[in-house]
Amino acid sequence: MKKVVIHRPGGYEQLVLEEHADLQPGPDEILIDVTAIGVNFADCVTRMGLYASARHYVGYPVTPGFEVTGTIRSSGTAVTAFVPGTPVVAVTRFYGYATQVVVNHEQVFPLPAQLSPEVAAGLPAVSLTAWFALFQLAHPQAGNTMLVHSAAGGVGSMLVQLGKIAGCKVVGVVGASHKTATVTALGADAVIDKSVQNLWKEAERLAPDGYDIIFDANGATTLKHSYQHLAAIGKLVVYGFHGMLKTRNGVPGKLRLAWDYLRTPRFSPFDLTTQNRSVLGFNLSFLFDKTAILQQGMQQILQWLEEGKIQPPAVTTFTLEAVADAHRALESGQTTGKLVLLCKS
Ligand SMILES: NC(=O)c1ccc[n+]([C@@H]2O[C@H](COP(=O)([O-])OP(=O)(O)OC[C@H]3O[C@@H](n4cnc5c(N)ncnc54)[C@H](OP(=O)(O)O)[C@@H]3O)[C@@H](O)[C@H]2O)c1
Repeated sequence: MKKVVIHRPGGYEQLVLEEHADLQPGPDEILIDVTAIGVNFADCVTRMGLYASARHYVGYPVTPGFEVTGTIRSSGTAVTAFVPGTPVVAVTRFYGYATQVVVNHEQVFPLPAQLSPEVAAGLPAVSLTAWFALFQLAHPQAGNTMLVHSAAGGVGSMLVQLGKIAGCKVVGVVGASHKTATVTALGADAVIDKSVQNLWKEAERLAPDGYDIIFDANGATTLKHSYQHLAAIGKLVVYGFHGMLKTRNGVPGKLRLAWDYLRTPRFSPFDLTTQNRSVLGFNLSFLFDKTAILQQGMQQILQWLEEGKIQPPAVTTFTLEAVADAHRALESGQTTGKLVLLCKS
C-alpha cells in the first residue's frame, strides 16, 4: 500500500508518498481499498504542525486524512454487517491519505447509491462538522438569522444548506467574487462578497437587529466583530482559525501567528451574562469516542441526501501523487466546495 507521510511539520515538500506493507484489520475493524480521499483544511494544519489532535493522538510522523471512499477488502472476526466487495464511505481519525485504511466498523457506511466515490469522499467531514455545529450546539429556531463565514468552502457550503433546512434566513460571506454564485445556488438568502463590499456594514443592513447564530472559522480577523454582531440570545460558534494561517510555500509566518494569537478576543463571562450572548466551540477530531452522536449525524446527512434536501459539495479532484497541489490550492483561499484525492486503481 501507499500512504502520504509527514515526517516533520513544514511546507508542501513534507508530503511524501511512500510504499508500506499492506494492512490487516483488527477484530472490530474493516480493511478498505481506497478509491478517493477528502482533503480538509485540518490536513494542511496537520502538515504545518499546528493541529492539536494530530499531536495528541499520533505525533510525527503522521499520515493526515479524515475521510475516504473505497471497497471493503476484508474485515475482522467481530464484524458481521459488511461483506468484502461492498463500496463504502468511512470516517477516519488521521491515516486517510493512503491506498488502504483500517477503520472501526462503526465509522463505515454504505456508499450512497446516488453518489460517485469522489463526491462521497468529500462528504463526511464537512457535513458532520456543519451538522454538529448547527444541531448539537446552536439549536436553531425557524426564522433565526444566521451568518456563515467562508460560505462557499467545504464546511460553509454545508452550513448554508443545513441552515435552510432549519428554516433560517442565511447570509453567506465569501472572500472572492467568483464564489458568490456558488453560495446563491446553495440557497443562501443573501451573499456578502467581502472582497468588494464592506462586510460589517452590509451585515448590519441585512440584519439590523443582529444575528441569532454566527459561524466563524476565521479567527482573529473576524471573531471580535462576529461577537459584536450577535442579536440578544445570539450564539457565536467558533470552529477554526484559518485566517491566522497565511502561508509562504506552505509555512505560516511566525510573527503573523503570534500577532493573531495576541489579538484573538478573550470573551468575558461578565459580558456574556449581561449581553445575553454565548460563545460555543468544538473540534470534532477530539470527539471520535462519541460514536452515537457521530452516527446520528451521519445517518441524518445520508437521509437528507437521499431525500434531495441537500447536495454534496462540488468536488475538484487531484491524484494522490499531486497531494501538494491540493494543499496549495486549499491554502490559496480561492477554492469552492471540496478537494478530493484519487487513488489509481
Ligand atoms: N472544529 C472542527 O471540528 C472542524 C472540522 C472541519 C473543519 N474545521 C475548520 O473549518 C474551516 C473550513 O474548513 P474546510 O476544510 O471546509 O476549508 P474551506 O472552507 O473549503 O477552505 C478554507 C476557506 O477559508 C477562507 N480563508 C480565510 N483565510 C484563509 C487562509 N489563510 N488560508 C486558506 N483559506 C482561508 C477562504 O474562504 P473565504 O475567503 O471565502 O472566507 C477559504 O476558501 C477550517 O478553519 C477548518 O479548520 C473545523
